[in-house]
Amino acid sequence: MPLASSAAMPLCGLPDETPHERLIFASHPDGLRCIIAIHNTKRGPGFGGSRLWKYPNDQAALADALRLSQGMTFKNALAGIPFGGGKAVILAPEGPFDRESLFAQFGDVVQSAGGAYITAEDVGTTTADMEIVAGRTAYVSGLCRSAGFGGDPSPKTAWGVFVAIEKGLRLHANKSLAGSTVAVQGLGSVGMALCQYLADRQVKLVVADINPARVAQAVSSFGAVALHVDRILEAQADVLAPCALGGVLNARTIPHIRSNLIAGAANNQLATPGDGDALHARGVMYLPDFLVNAGGIISVAREYLGTGNGPGVLAEIGLIGERVAELFDRIRNGNSPSREAERWAQEKLEAV
Ligand code: NAI
Repeated sequence: MPLASSAAMPLCGLPDETPHERLIFASHPDGLRCIIAIHNTKRGPGFGGSRLWKYPNDQAALADALRLSQGMTFKNALAGIPFGGGKAVILAPEGPFDRESLFAQFGDVVQSAGGAYITAEDVGTTTADMEIVAGRTAYVSGLCRSAGFGGDPSPKTAWGVFVAIEKGLRLHANKSLAGSTVAVQGLGSVGMALCQYLADRQVKLVVADINPARVAQAVSSFGAVALHVDRILEAQADVLAPCALGGVLNARTIPHIRSNLIAGAANNQLATPGDGDALHARGVMYLPDFLVNAGGIISVAREYLGTGNGPGVLAEIGLIGERVAELFDRIRNGNSPSREAERWAQEKLEAV
């Protein structure tokens, strides 16, 4: 039963952009504090990863859960998989903690949702964590033990972003990958795998990460040029690929962006919906995160459903390129890509 909520009705002091169906707040005396946000189950159970993160306060954690789960509704609808939008955030405990116990407790909370939410990896969680969750619930994917496909979604996410960049470059700038420059912000599981795919196609890389070891690895492995983290968004590049955290495209950063195309893995790259319009007004083609970064969820969804095989999953992720092309067609109506992609996802929801 959907909660009565609207864009105008604050939820715990936060505006809830679109109504969420269900929120689960759980805490355990041994340390777990988590929120599961189930945004929309019209297409199927809410499916999205679990983020383990140190939030400044509980409201910030709730805000993240609300936005991330809404993004999953759009992402899963556009990806054409039979799932709705959901996401979990686990508030990282202060100081050292027992990881096995934390994820076992989290598995119990996932189980308590009775299948309305299915989890997998996200920032801060690993396949080993999901194996622990799997000891307590079957509503989990992205496991080490899957045969041939599934498992860690990050390389699949990177593959989808790569496909989107290739198609976007062709359609927006009439350029091919070889010889083009891509600026990658964040060299974690997805960013580093993306660099590998791009380097294999003779793309010049400009990179930044707050972790110097990751930067050193990209410089030595791919001949990447390192930039300071404060300068990467304004790099002179054909493509900007945000692959760290959300909110990086905002009123402060947008005026300084020099790439004409943005396509990256990070969820919720736009700080506000209006920032998508601001990019559009500047002639910057922003490929919405929830369209571009669906490779991982496609992979874990197929693993969960037990349908598909390795090449089939890669081919399905490759369809992200076709959706990028369709978005280029759709924005001939003058809408910004972010608004149009949301509209497109809404159409898919209404068609159910
Ligand atoms: P990760 O945690 O492995 O990597 C994030 C990287 O960003 C780290 O190396 C971190 O040091 C770096 N970073 C953090 N703040 C930074 C800053 N201000 N400037 C530069 N670098 C910074 O995370 P992962 O899995 O690679 O995910 C990256 C993004 O993609 C996240 O926003 C995630 O939600 C999103 N995403 C990931 C998926 C996956 O399959 N892993 C699927 C869909 C979205």
